Amino acid sequence: MDARPIGVFDSGFGGLTVVRALMDLVPQERLVYLGDTGRYPYGPRPLEEVRAFALQIAKYLVGEHGVKLLVVACNTAAAAALDELVAAVDVPVVGVIEPGVRAMLRVTETGRVGVIGTVGTIGSGAYQRSVGQACERGGTTAELVCAACPGFVEFVERGDLGSDQVHVLAERLLAPLRESEVDTLLLGCTHYPFLARTIADVMGPEVVLVSSAEETAFEVRSVLGRLDMSSPGPGGQQFSSSGDVEWFRALGARLLGMEIARVEPVDWD
Ligand code: DGL
Repeated sequence: MDARPIGVFDSGFGGLTVVRALMDLVPQERLVYLGDTGRYPYGPRPLEEVRAFALQIAKYLVGEHGVKLLVVACNTAAAAALDELVAAVDVPVVGVIEPGVRAMLRVTETGRVGVIGTVGTIGSGAYQRSVGQACERGGTTAELVCAACPGFVEFVERGDLGSDQVHVLAERLLAPLRESEVDTLLLGCTHYPFLARTIADVMGPEVVLVSSAEETAFEVRSVLGRLDMSSPGPGGQQFSSSGDVEWFRALGARLLGMEIARVEPVDWD
């Protein structure tokens, strides 16, 4: 048993999709969430810069909060820095890319699959590599179509989850995926599940949307079990943000569907 909290981080609100899944699956765990809203979006930044941010946050969560496990609830950070994070901290690190790929390959029937993510994530080739490795391991094949969706994250961060503007942008960005007739679409950015209704409207009912949040929570549960690190409880959540904490409290509560009493400010200077 290990009562220390689990650290979860993202560039902003996206990682709350993973927090929600963790609250459902491992409710006895204490979660410390950091949304780096002062420096979002990560997607358009060079991968080296995102790597530096991710390492700084990991050290902060381990050093200041004594977390027992780190969840990189941001595809861009995982694409840029997962191996470096594993090497840099002495606690287990769980990312979102492999769990998402696993879930997607389980769901597809035709083997024609799509992944959408930030410019950084898609440009890094992390999904292309991960799908290739998973197919090799499983002795299967898949035809992968990737598309970057610049602008989606900004809509979520503003709290705009379903306006005409976001719909028009989705029509444009998702057109190549519609044309390639994928049967499964992985939301390879943790912000995107908040736009699921718009994305589903555009892709049509025959395409199954997959989020990595639930599969990542399963992975966390399995790591905790394997290492005998589950918490005896009680569970709880603590939130912090490097940006506007009042905005984080208000929009975070709306996105999570629960009251957030307090958001701790984090100052990187
Ligand atoms: N939620 C982050 C991800 O999964 C968004 C990155 C961003 O801030 O652009 O990639």
